[in-house]
Amino acid sequence: MIDIAIIGSGSMGSGIAQVAATAGHQVCLYDSNPDALKRAERNLRKIFDRLVEKEKYLEEEAAAILDRIDYVNSLYDCKGAGLLIEAIVENLEAKQALFEQAEAMLTADSILATNTSSLSVSAIAAACKQPGRVLGIHFFNPAPLMKLVEIIPAIQTEDEVTARAHKLIESWGKITVLAKDTPGFIVNRLARPFYGEALRILEEGFADAATIDWAMTELGGFRMGPFTLMDYIGNDVNYKVTKTVFEAFYYDPRYKPSFTQKRMVEAGYLGRKSGRGFYDYGETNKIPEPVQDAELGENIVWRIVVMLINEAADALYLGIASRDDLDLAMTKGVNYPKGLLRWADEAGIAHCVATLDRLHDEYREERYRCSPLLRKMAREGKRFYSVEV
Ligand code: NAI
Repeated sequence: MIDIAIIGSGSMGSGIAQVAATAGHQVCLYDSNPDALKRAERNLRKIFDRLVEKEKYLEEEAAAILDRIDYVNSLYDCKGAGLLIEAIVENLEAKQALFEQAEAMLTADSILATNTSSLSVSAIAAACKQPGRVLGIHFFNPAPLMKLVEIIPAIQTEDEVTARAHKLIESWGKITVLAKDTPGFIVNRLARPFYGEALRILEEGFADAATIDWAMTELGGFRMGPFTLMDYIGNDVNYKVTKTVFEAFYYDPRYKPSFTQKRMVEAGYLGRKSGRGFYDYGETNKIPEPVQDAELGENIVWRIVVMLINEAADALYLGIASRDDLDLAMTKGVNYPKGLLRWADEAGIAHCVATLDRLHDEYREERYRCSPLLRKMAREGKRFYSVEV
């Protein structure tokens, strides 16, 4: 079993270290900030204390897993690793500098992976002498609980490296999907309208946050409504992802961030963590009553869902991932009630196209342009899945 090096011991790095050590690997966890490293060690001990309390592990099992993690103050201590996963700050120059340094100390067949959410994997790989052994392995937060991992080969990555990484991550009990090295990969790209269209509906005054959340959970079957989720993720974090994706797509209006959310961030209404976001989490903690109007609710759900379907169809059209991986990513990564392409089949492709065309007609905005794939499929009477299950 190969040794794993994890660089960066923040929320992602320590979570990935926990996953790898639990899978039986010897893990070397390095952070340039010794305090962060100590914090990670304390947190991991706490997590395993709790897991023992909850009888998920015997005390000696937890001790053995924790024993497999070495907390080191020098990158060089990780030199024996067969796989290095980088989870440092989201900054291209910092990541390139680290990859250049790390490559020099690893053996020729070691794999180097980045956990970046928004940077180009190809740009990170370009810092290495052997860019063919670099790829993206994108975990979700919290890494031990989230089943999905996106595997992102850079344009330089050798197929054999992708295959080896894929096999290893699956052996850790994760569900993997293969994504092209494009902004947002799968989940962070496809999920944009879940927030963006909900914000747009709010801005246009069709419904308030509580009503939109009610519609999406009660009628749409989503686990959390968009506003509850934005408050949970943090408006600062969610806004930044949207802005990054928007910029990376050369300002495609489909991903345009919302002023409403920007103002929330500026006001410090970050969500749960600041006590106030779209909802007030103060002493009273009172969530306003939704308007439970079934017709309004169905309209809200369909407008958001059809925009999500359009994203998924366009991603398939542009070869970002396969049909099955696109659907798997959204059901396993963000717990959507259905895969978006399956949802398109159920609703009817022609119905999707008609709704998007109506929105496009109404607003005359590029944001509502229908994916060429949906239009072609509607014309030819095709479905994404040939057999209904
Ligand atoms: P974090 O800020 O919690 O942790 C980053 C850690 O890296 C810090 O402890 C810092 O001291 C350390 N660090 C910074 N520069 C370093 C260097 N040159 N060498 C060694 N250590 C260094 O960040 P977080 O949230 O864990 O994110 C890490 C990476 O994972 C980022 O690329 C982020 O985009 C990505 N990511 C984050 C997710 C999230 O929800 N937080 C989800 C998926 C990916």
